[in-house]
Amino acid sequence: MRESGVSEAIRYGIIGSGMMGIEHIMNINMIEGAHVAAIADPHDGSREWARATAAGKISEYADYRDMLAADEIDAVIIATPNYTHAAVLEDVFATKLHVLCEKPLATTYDDARKVAQKAETHGGVFWVGMEYRYMPPVTRFVEEVHGGRAGRLRMFSIREHRYPFLQKVDDWNRFSINTGGTLVEKSCHYFDMMRHVVQSEPVRIFASGGQDVNHLDERYDGKVPDILDNAYVVVDFANGVRAMHDLCMFAEGSRNQEEMSAVGETGKIECLIPEGNLVFGTRHPKQVETLHVPVSAEVLKAGFHHGASYFQHLAFQKAIREGKPATVTATDGLKAVAMGLAAHRSIDEGRPVLMSEFDL
Ligand SMILES: NC(=O)c1ccc[n+]([C@@H]2O[C@H](COP(=O)([O-])OP(=O)(O)OC[C@H]3O[C@@H](n4cnc5c(N)ncnc54)[C@H](O)[C@@H]3O)[C@@H](O)[C@H]2O)c1
Repeated sequence: MRESGVSEAIRYGIIGSGMMGIEHIMNINMIEGAHVAAIADPHDGSREWARATAAGKISEYADYRDMLAADEIDAVIIATPNYTHAAVLEDVFATKLHVLCEKPLATTYDDARKVAQKAETHGGVFWVGMEYRYMPPVTRFVEEVHGGRAGRLRMFSIREHRYPFLQKVDDWNRFSINTGGTLVEKSCHYFDMMRHVVQSEPVRIFASGGQDVNHLDERYDGKVPDILDNAYVVVDFANGVRAMHDLCMFAEGSRNQEEMSAVGETGKIECLIPEGNLVFGTRHPKQVETLHVPVSAEVLKAGFHHGASYFQHLAFQKAIREGKPATVTATDGLKAVAMGLAAHRSIDEGRPVLMSEFDL
């Protein structure tokens, strides 16, 4: 592997070239000073998809360990199913490659904690793919909240109302044992966002949720999927801010998929995706104004996340070239997993869960 900080193109290897691996390839294709050199995936169809998407010739491997041994990449993207992340990382930690590991860091608290501990001494940049931070309207929203435009923050809510989980290779996302549970798999993004916006740590989590509509008529080896499709999660933060997450995965009929709202002592700021609008409101005088935050059509086209993957890659590449730490660390990844597990525990046991129950 070459030293970080080099001026040559950074050579990426992708482990897992399914839906998200392909989104990474499409975005790396658009970035100067970066190219995908190799991919590893045991599934023929996924390797073909990667071959058709990559900008140039790539090396292909069925076993990612052969790719790691080949010494032809500088950075690796892990976009395999959630339940494989910890084992894949075990092998990646034996290298000094820069790493971007897709969320969630792992599916269990013990695995996520072990990964976070190992990441601390890893030889390259270690970055967790919490890309929602990088959607341009969200980035601007966070700047405005932190800049005090709504006054001292008191309440923060994140609603995601969308379509059901998509079909995945070998249907791995139909069972919580593989995903960590919906509030880990999907909502780790939003728990990370809460910590990022609120700038404090969660103390207590109370949730109500269930699987009421989706996947109930599906069977895999005779088994019915067990993935929750709706929930409300309330989080108390150490600095007194209250946060809430509202998830519904049978709500295609929504104007926006994500709606965030930060209410401070003097005003309110909303962020609406995919409209790409921020709405600023003040109490005195009582008024509301809207600002559109544009994202180029080319960037929007390269994935399903409102341009987030592109801007995340620019930030990851900057960290590699400048030898800087990741902005989304393995500890951030661990805490997002712990919050998701706490929300599931709250639902399962019908009680508020203290984050002190986790050895963070
Ligand atoms: N950041 C985001 O917004 C976002 C969005 C979607 C998915 N993801 C994450 O990306 C990861 C992949 O999800 P997906 O939607 O692309 O799933 P997918 O099923 O479409 O793709 C997963 C790919 O990994 C391959 N794979 C399985 N085991 C492997 C192994 N040991 N080595 C190499 N490849 C292996 C599969 O063959 C498949 O091609 C998951 O962790 C998921 O949570 C993140």
